[in-house]
Amino acid sequence: MELRSVEELMDLLHACRDTRHTAAGSGGPVDVHDHALQTAALLRRSHPADKELQVAGLVHGIGRLPLPGDATAHAGPVPDLVGPLLGARVSRLGRLHSGGRPDPCDADDALSLRQACDAGRVAGLHAGVLEDWRTVVELVAAQHSRLGAVD
Ligand SMILES: [Fe+2]
Repeated sequence: MELRSVEELMDLLHACRDTRHTAAGSGGPVDVHDHALQTAALLRRSHPADKELQVAGLVHGIGRLPLPGDATAHAGPVPDLVGPLLGARVSRLGRLHSGGRPDPCDADDALSLRQACDAGRVAGLHAGVLEDWRTVVELVAAQHSRLGAVD
């Protein structure tokens, strides 16, 4: 599966409320939606100018999500999902939960993302709302999308 618009990505993230992290090493009391927001917020604080890294934090957990309307299917590898929409760097960084090894040129960023991922698991911590990220995601998509014009 690939996400073809920012709207599809936002819908997938909205749909993952109350979906728990279950993969080995990523367990915790926080749901995928809150984990995405917390991870992205931590990266915004540590790397305020790097919107791609922040967006990678936002999307890095979406690969195991059930598809809206089809709970038996998972969304699939993050690079496949977001590559066409958000570009190669977000795609590479977003592999974190899939166990992909970072590209050497991304090593520092991958470490920052991993640290934010590890820290972004605080149940009940409010880290903003998904809509806060729409314009940032749209900006990254506008720079990288191979899917044509982004409204
Ligand atoms: Fe994570």
